[in-house]
Amino acid sequence: MNLIPLLFSALALFTLTANGQGGPVLYQTYCSACHGTQGQGGAEGAAPPLAKSLWAQGDPDRMIKVVLHGLMGEIEVLGKEYNLVMPPQGAVLNDGQIAAILTHVRSLGNGGEKVSTDRVAAVRAKYEEREAYWKGDELLKDHPLPSPPGPLKNLVRKFYALPKDQRSMLDYAKLEANASSRQPNGLINLEGYSEKDHFGLVWEGELNVRREGQFSFTLDSDDLSALYIDDKKVVEVSGLGGMGRAKTGKATLHPGVVKVRVEYLEFTGFTGIAASWSGSGIRGTQSLSSTKVVSNQKPKINLIELKPEGNRAVHYRNFIAGTGNRSFSVGYPGGVNLVFNQENCGLELLWHGRFFDAGPRWKNRGTVRSFPLSAQVYHLQKGSPFPGQAFSFKGMELDERSYPTFHYHVGNLTVRDRPEPNDKGIVRTLSIESEGASELVFAPINSQSVRGLNLASRGLTARQDGTFLLPLDKGDNSFTFHYGIQ
Ligand code: HEC
Repeated sequence: MNLIPLLFSALALFTLTANGQGGPVLYQTYCSACHGTQGQGGAEGAAPPLAKSLWAQGDPDRMIKVVLHGLMGEIEVLGKEYNLVMPPQGAVLNDGQIAAILTHVRSLGNGGEKVSTDRVAAVRAKYEEREAYWKGDELLKDHPLPSPPGPLKNLVRKFYALPKDQRSMLDYAKLEANASSRQPNGLINLEGYSEKDHFGLVWEGELNVRREGQFSFTLDSDDLSALYIDDKKVVEVSGLGGMGRAKTGKATLHPGVVKVRVEYLEFTGFTGIAASWSGSGIRGTQSLSSTKVVSNQKPKINLIELKPEGNRAVHYRNFIAGTGNRSFSVGYPGGVNLVFNQENCGLELLWHGRFFDAGPRWKNRGTVRSFPLSAQVYHLQKGSPFPGQAFSFKGMELDERSYPTFHYHVGNLTVRDRPEPNDKGIVRTLSIESEGASELVFAPINSQSVRGLNLASRGLTARQDGTFLLPLDKGDNSFTFHYGIQ
């Protein structure tokens, strides 16, 4: 009599009745022969370790897929390369059993989060038709490995709620923290706080110094921060302000463990902190902070999104990142947006999609530039569209849909500049009134080309440098330019 099926069904029953508690037993039956009883890996590299394996951390779908359909080809686990084959187990194990096994695997130094039966069922359903083994790189494309923990050991983060007028660093040692939490990722981070105002954070942890020598510590923050090694201040970013004010300080350290403390204060608006160190025994520069949560983005909490209403365009007149100080922005119905700079009569930015978040501006007047709510903004020009000419902005006219026509003078020419949105971008018409026959150089973009921008004119061809030569007759002249963006 074949005992194995009996054993399997007994185990299945056990898992169900014990409500997922059978993980360790199931693991010993189905995985340990190859991966070792403690997940330490198979003898002589026959299978990679599961204990402390990044493959078993983060997104559970990666492991679920491996167990359901098997894995083959090159992979790297804990710094070692393997190129082996793991047979699929999906036909032998049901969803509850796999969930129980993987929950046990998570307890082998892999963060400990539970893997649910529903999750296994969902992955199984999604790949019902699949027969092929997974390849390592194929899995990593969809489920990248979590980053290994950062260099700060025993890291603790303390949170302090601060009064609204607190603009300078204070002695946190004299205050009582409102909250404190361990940071097992070993990196200074703002997770959970990046959208708040008026608070302080203090991180305390340890760094392992391998070799005697001089070390550089670099710090940048929005707003204030200071870094201490063994209670001695090494570097500080003082005064309210944004990221991009990095300072570096030096310290001579001896081999062994040093205490690191980073203090941070956020007044309002953006948040951000970045810290790194370099020196003896460190390859290049090692980050002490998580890059993911360092943000120059406005806090989402203040999002006041401006949108066109009905068939009317919306306008926004403010300091816009990437343009001059007298910009006029138009968001057209249909989702084309532009920024016209009245200082140089230039059409500077063009983009599709969402327009602006007015939140930070309404909150912190005069201190913050607004960012278009899009990752893909076309920067068309920075300088003058009419090189070598004097120009003056005369004002604008709005039609019944609030679409503007800009009026300005270029030398002794009178120009009416009318952008009109279409499904590709805009059609821009320049109507130029001239007192006699002449020509005018028009530079709609500053360089020869802008990636992804398709610029064409009816009747005119761009010259080598991207400019157009506009032939003018006495009286009214009209030129049309099509700006196509993706
Ligand atoms: C017959 C041997 C064998 C069995 C049984 C087996 N594995 Fe594997 N497993 C492997 C091999 C070999 C690899 C590496 C495959 C490669 O090189 O692409 C692997 C890779 C893995 C990986 C990804 C790499 C890592 O080490 O983190 C996970 C996760 C995994 N197995 C989990 C399991 C679980 C859970 C079980 C039990 C349900 C199991 N395996 C059963 C041989 C086995």
